[in-house]
Amino acid sequence: MNEQWMNLSANVPQWLSDCRPYAKDGKAAAYIPALAAAPADALGVSILSADGSIIAGGESGMLFTMQSISKVFTLLLALIDNGEEAVFSKVGMEPTGDDFNSILKLELVEPGIPFNPLINAGAIAVTSLIGGASPDEKTERVLAFMRLMAGDDSLDYNRSVSESESATAYRNRSLAYFLQENGVLSPHASVEEVLSVYFNHCAIEVTCHHLARMGLILAHGGFDPLTERQLVPRRYVQIAKTFMLTCGMYNASGEFAIRVGIPAKSGVAGGILAVVPGRYGIGVVGPALNSRGNSVAGIRLLETMSVECDWSMF
Ligand code: DON
Repeated sequence: MNEQWMNLSANVPQWLSDCRPYAKDGKAAAYIPALAAAPADALGVSILSADGSIIAGGESGMLFTMQSISKVFTLLLALIDNGEEAVFSKVGMEPTGDDFNSILKLELVEPGIPFNPLINAGAIAVTSLIGGASPDEKTERVLAFMRLMAGDDSLDYNRSVSESESATAYRNRSLAYFLQENGVLSPHASVEEVLSVYFNHCAIEVTCHHLARMGLILAHGGFDPLTERQLVPRRYVQIAKTFMLTCGMYNASGEFAIRVGIPAKSGVAGGILAVVPGRYGIGVVGPALNSRGNSVAGIRLLETMSVECDWSMF
């Protein structure tokens, strides 16, 4: 066992206790009513290394919905289904500096394609590119891909969270109709069907262990060190990790790159998927969010671990 792993293993319990109090500076997301009841002071982490060793602590076994973290994997699936050129004819490669659900730049910048696949508008466009004859088939394909990446066939989506989001998704409906008007979604696409797949993939339930497993595969360029299989082409994983670094924490991505310095993706249920390239996959959960929609205590914990272990890529 190397020195860094021993340092992590010895200190993670203390770092969890140090970071947990920061949760009081945030609040669980309430705009999706089913998320409002999450335990706001929970904090959990799971770190997985290529030899299968795990360091876990806090509420690492708690189930929560992936929300925007799922966008990394729907992007990978859309790339597998369509190739790079087709995907990037419908979605751009630039950070926005705006909120994750902002409509602003869709209208400001020609020809109206979303700036990147990790903002809501971009992820809805990407979801429309996923292969499958019906919304159910598309949802099943996304689930099958998540199960493969997480190494757990029982992964599923939470129906009541998906329905709860659908019932209040006025902004996402606006974004999707705007995309259809601009030809990003096909004129024949049913906006409601595209959105139902999007709500379902956002509602896939995971623990920190699942995220750590998914992150480990990203950390190794699409190769799963535990099954010794290449699950995703290396180039597509490279694209996904670049988006995680530049846009994964939304309009806090620059600050996160400076303070933590590794690819990561947050979700409004409080999850963060992080990748230490060539080394570990990390799953974090802390449902109390800051104003940017990122887990307050989760970011503190990642910052502490990154500084202590010198993980920054820069
Ligand atoms: O579309 C939404 O609003 C949610 N299903 C996902 C948003 C999200 O997780 C943004 N993350 N920080």
